[in-house]
Amino acid sequence: MRNLIDILDFSTAEIDSLIEVAGDIIENPEKYRDVCHGKILGTLFFEPSTRTRLSFTSAMMSLGGQVLGFDNAASSSTAKGETVQDTIRMVSAYSDIIAMRHPKEGAPIAASRVATVPVINAGDGGHYHPTQTLTDLITIKRKSGRFDNLTVGICGDLKYGRTVHSLIAAMSRYENVKFVLIAPEELKLPDYVKEEFLGDGKCEYVETESLEDAIPSLDILYMTRIQAERFQDKDEYERLKDSYILELSKLKFAKPTLSILHPLPRVNEISVDVDDDPRAHYFEQAALGRYIRMALILMLLDTHGIDDKRTVGKEDATLECTNPHCLSLTERGIKKLFNNGKCVYCDQAGKKK
Ligand code: CP
Repeated sequence: MRNLIDILDFSTAEIDSLIEVAGDIIENPEKYRDVCHGKILGTLFFEPSTRTRLSFTSAMMSLGGQVLGFDNAASSSTAKGETVQDTIRMVSAYSDIIAMRHPKEGAPIAASRVATVPVINAGDGGHYHPTQTLTDLITIKRKSGRFDNLTVGICGDLKYGRTVHSLIAAMSRYENVKFVLIAPEELKLPDYVKEEFLGDGKCEYVETESLEDAIPSLDILYMTRIQAERFQDKDEYERLKDSYILELSKLKFAKPTLSILHPLPRVNEISVDVDDDPRAHYFEQAALGRYIRMALILMLLDTHGIDDKRTVGKEDATLECTNPHCLSLTERGIKKLFNNGKCVYCDQAGKKK
């Protein structure tokens, strides 16, 4: 049984195949109308969502399946103290596939360890958001026609932006991709992401604080929201929240072939006057999310008997994860699993207790 926890759970060939199936669904929706008849998707959203939850719901309904779930932790037995892993054990009994979003990093891996059905990570804290990346990738393929030889600017909250971390992981696997990381000092890309995908010549990148300087070289401009909900210090959020605002005037020196993407929701970071520019693709990007999630559901429902390729890790009770947002610090009874000193749940370093 396969899960989608991290975009690297899928090979580039598997991603190509998902994009191809999504394209076929767009062209021939009637062919897919009943293919999930009798199947149930559980949508467990412990954090707010518009696009991800509703596009998963729409995807399963468009395949002829049904959906159950909750859209906030308060309306589930989490409010009574039930653990994530017990919740998943239960929902595994009521559904054929689960999409879950959780504020704690590593929660979907913890879920997949006890689930008896495929688990899809629909966003875990500031860690990863692989189905957003599938949405980003299908948009890039349809707009730029390729993944190789692209200069990708990523602007805004690179520290807490989980969509950023998954997109870098995915795009770093293609040939001659260059990243331009545009962020204020306080919101730079975390070291664990940089070391894993960019450092030691893995992939070319530059860091800058200037959006204006970066724009002329870009093939893709991926704008992101400053993630208010992840800041411990609200004054710091207030100071940084309007660090970048993309206005039409800033696109004067951009390539005519530029694609402007955003995982959405946006707050102030893209002015509405950009929406009518032919290079603004973010609403179409969100719409494509429905079709790529349809292709994903079909793929994962067809993986019984096929092993998940993720590392299992080793239990080490002498180590503790250093990431204060990791589920392994708060979930009762969870095994403390590490791989080469890194926490298996959230990829951050462990330390001796
Ligand atoms: N892009 C994204 O994850 O949007 P939602 O938070 O609305 O699901």
